[in-house]
Amino acid sequence: MAPGLTVLHASDLQCGKPFLPEAADALLRVAHAVSPDLVVVAGDLTQRAKVREYETARRVLDRFGELPVVVTPGNHDVPLYRVWERLGQPFRNWRNFTGRDELDTVTRVHGATVVALSSAAPLRAVVNGRLHPSQVDFARHAFADAAHDDLRILVVHHHFAPVPTAEGGDPLPGAAGLADSFREMGVDVVLGGHVHQLHLRIFRGLPFLSTGTATSRRGRGVEAGWNSFCVHRFAAGHVEVTPYRRAPHAADFEPMDTVGFELGARGAGEGSVAR
Ligand SMILES: [Fe+2]
Repeated sequence: MAPGLTVLHASDLQCGKPFLPEAADALLRVAHAVSPDLVVVAGDLTQRAKVREYETARRVLDRFGELPVVVTPGNHDVPLYRVWERLGQPFRNWRNFTGRDELDTVTRVHGATVVALSSAAPLRAVVNGRLHPSQVDFARHAFADAAHDDLRILVVHHHFAPVPTAEGGDPLPGAAGLADSFREMGVDVVLGGHVHQLHLRIFRGLPFLSTGTATSRRGRGVEAGWNSFCVHRFAAGHVEVTPYRRAPHAADFEPMDTVGFELGARGAGEGSVAR
């Protein structure tokens, strides 16, 4: 992997009614200061999957300039109440937004292979998501094609490890078996969101790093009313995670204490993040 790979990892922009433009401005200020190699936005870019909400999300992403940006759909990126659209063309607006048909993607950049799998399940589990075995195979093939020393990053919107406060709902069904499969295929780290609060854990030997809502008023649990995102600095076998949080009505995000995680199957024990 490229030494010193830096990833800005945000999630749950929730463009629409809950969106806070001032939080987006603050996020972009940190992004320009940190100058990451890659941006990951781990789902729920909109609140109700409306065209004008995607237009807002596009304006936010465009502000990252030339940086590669990996996105994946969340449960809010398909219609909830527009039932006929959800049943017939749930990803129509998402596809127009991304300009590509495929929902599962592979991005190879700076010595890293990033696989993003869509866990949005508009027909079967509109809130807590699903991954299909064919998507696990998709990831397996993508990582098998990666250079031997590539960092292997998986992006999935929904969470795998239970959230201690029980807010954020149940983990993705089959999470333990899925995590074991991903570890066996050499995944180093899994980046997600959905729970609207920082949730950084070792689960089944893999770091599962979920961040809160970067730009909406829908923070939950200890982050009710707050915003958060993370900056991950990767080195050989290790990642240093610096969470950033923004207090209600504050102008800027502030960095929290950095937390270290061993990557992939090298991981052991239980990581945590300071409150
Ligand atoms: Fe979500």
